[in-house]
Amino acid sequence: MDLYEYQARDMFEKHGVPVLAGIVADTPAEARAAAEKLGGVTVVKAQVKTGGRGKAGGVKVAKTPDDAEAAAEAILGLDIKGHVVKRLMVAAGADIAQEYYFSVLLDRSNRSYLSLASYEGGMEIEQLAEERPEALARIEVDPLDGITLEKAKEIAVAAKFPAELVDKVAPVFVKLYEVYTSEDATLVEVNPLVLTGAGDIVALDGKISLDDNASEVRHHEHEALEDKGAADPLEAKAKAAGLNYVKLDGEVGIIGNGAGLVMSTLDVVAYAGENHGGVKPANFLDIGGGASAEVMAAGLDVILGDPQVKSVFVNVFGGITSCVAVANGIVKALEILGDAATKPLVVRLDGNQVEEGRAILAAANHPLVTIATGMDEGADKAAELASK
Ligand SMILES: Nc1ncnc2c1ncn2[C@@H]1O[C@H](COP(=O)(O)OP(=O)(O)OP(=O)(O)O)[C@@H](O)[C@H]1O
Ligand SMILES: [Mg+2]
Repeated sequence: MDLYEYQARDMFEKHGVPVLAGIVADTPAEARAAAEKLGGVTVVKAQVKTGGRGKAGGVKVAKTPDDAEAAAEAILGLDIKGHVVKRLMVAAGADIAQEYYFSVLLDRSNRSYLSLASYEGGMEIEQLAEERPEALARIEVDPLDGITLEKAKEIAVAAKFPAELVDKVAPVFVKLYEVYTSEDATLVEVNPLVLTGAGDIVALDGKISLDDNASEVRHHEHEALEDKGAADPLEAKAKAAGLNYVKLDGEVGIIGNGAGLVMSTLDVVAYAGENHGGVKPANFLDIGGGASAEVMAAGLDVILGDPQVKSVFVNVFGGITSCVAVANGIVKALEILGDAATKPLVVRLDGNQVEEGRAILAAANHPLVTIATGMDEGADKAAELASK
């Protein structure tokens, strides 16, 4: 789960990372009140889970509460890369002398942590990495050792901070690592980390991604950070049913067992769709092993609830789960759903007990179900049905 900037700010504060005051506002009137409360110059910032807010007009300096209200009016409702702004943070204005960059993240390919830091902030990090890679230090962080003060100084030196600043930024790096490790984050990024006119180091913008696996076990308090309103209603429904579901934009609903098979099924359906008016997969749904009738019913229920879906392709390879269980699951699921099942289903079964499984489907002879023998054939049939 990615956090909003204001949530990251709060988490930073909790762990002693220096931040400025910030107040959340959902209306222009609230933004004005926040600016009055903070006093002085404020910065009104769009709260969206995407980068480049400043360039898109989502970050505005306000000299007075009147300005803050006007800025809020301009920013609320703005579409930033497909994210509509519904919430703002009014932050105390910083007197910025210099801008830096710091992040620590999970480096999956090296099975380690990686810290990126640069003395040259103020520009997008992707751009910096491309245009001036030598200005961006990449330092591996051993997960067992973490970022000690000594390690933090090594990072600061590698990032080309001058000696007098190394001692200033290093303790902040240590605190940011503390956020990373104690909150079970996979990313903590500060862009910009600034030096103020008064000589203080402050995190002006923060991005935190939390590891959902850890949240479920060690950090139940993270649940409160979840943005329930923003989640797709079908995704929320699937999550409540314990399903691994991602909504996509197409017309062919997909159910499969195992993430790899489902991914390939998406590809095959997209490919087959090219011959049928460009129909595309409507979702990713992995029902995992042991496809019981309940799981199948829950999955079908979610997919059929998507008004964009015109047909469904069930693609199951029986391994430990036998095709008999899956076929029974489909038949019972259709019984459970009754009239709620309205769209054609193409079912391809293969693997363990495939003949018996197909026989069960054939015997049930459900008017909505078509049996396919191969994956390509099934994808083609489902795409054809969706294009009608
Ligand atoms: N509280 C603040 N006081 C003064 N200036 C600020 C403040 N917050 C942000 N800024 C200025 O605005 C710039 C952009 O802000 P910020 O980094 O939060 O957004 P962004 O970089 O556009 O968004 P993102 O990081 O999501 O891409 C900063 O680099 C900084 O110069
Ligand atoms: Mg930023």
